[in-house]
Amino acid sequence: MDAKISRRDILAKAALLGVGAFAGKFAVSTAQASDEEPLAKTWPWPYVKLDPAETAEIAYKQWYNLGCGGTVMYSIFEQLAQKVGEPYKSFPVESFAIFEGGIASWGTTCGSVNGAAVVVSLIVGPPTWEDRTHTVVSDTFNWYSHANMPIYVPKDPQANKDSIVHTVSNSPLCHVSVSKWMKAADKALGSPERKDRCARVSASVAYKVVQYLNRIHDEKEIAEHPVWTGGKEVGTTAQYNCADCHGKNVPKAPGFVKK
Ligand code: HEC
Repeated sequence: MDAKISRRDILAKAALLGVGAFAGKFAVSTAQASDEEPLAKTWPWPYVKLDPAETAEIAYKQWYNLGCGGTVMYSIFEQLAQKVGEPYKSFPVESFAIFEGGIASWGTTCGSVNGAAVVVSLIVGPPTWEDRTHTVVSDTFNWYSHANMPIYVPKDPQANKDSIVHTVSNSPLCHVSVSKWMKAADKALGSPERKDRCARVSASVAYKVVQYLNRIHDEKEIAEHPVWTGGKEVGTTAQYNCADCHGKNVPKAPGFVKK
């Protein structure tokens, strides 16, 4: 039923909520769908400003149900489902619980920044090379890698109530981020302390993403280019911290000429 709501309906609704200008300003050619086509096939999706701290609280609590990626998405989309409606209402955000543990426990990209990437791409726009989506997602990964995590302190923490160990992952990888923290805190993966830590990391990421979205909504400046653009800088897809894995002898990508 929801899928039949037309783009015109959504935009009319969005305009009532004062989000029309935003949706229009950042709308791109892909948004020129026919009236019959559901909005969910087009993006960017409408956005109204959210409170970063409230979002972080939701993210912290729902981490225990949805894991890191699912909760970052849920904390933002669930509020927008209530404030805006479609397409958020019928978007199966819980399906992104699969991002947990760096996707199905493989320790690849931390689910919280993976979830953030989906949120930003849907709300800010299509991921062409140096556009806002690319910049915000890239900078979120960069910030995550350098932040002394976890940053956000929940109102009612499930563990680490008096104090918590902080670590800098120097990587967006779940494996590196979690394992470094576990080593510093001397806590097991299944411990309440580790779970609380990852719930706080997700909350910190949700907070950061809402700050970005609010800035863009208010048309405040954000960086024009991402701070790290792997392929352009080193000739292969990569994170910046080559030496962490390669040691002193960082290999050169075939055919790469630094401009
Ligand atoms: C998370 C760990 C990690 C990071 C960070 C990383 N790499 Fe790698 N890279 C690898 C692994 C593992 C291989 C495969 C090595 C092998 O099979 O010998 C590889 C392979 C390569 C290769 C293929 C040639 C070769 O000798 O294997 C190049 C080129 C390369 N990396 C460049 C880079 C650069 C440049 C950076 C930083 C901008 C970087 N890597 C960051 C893990 C990493």
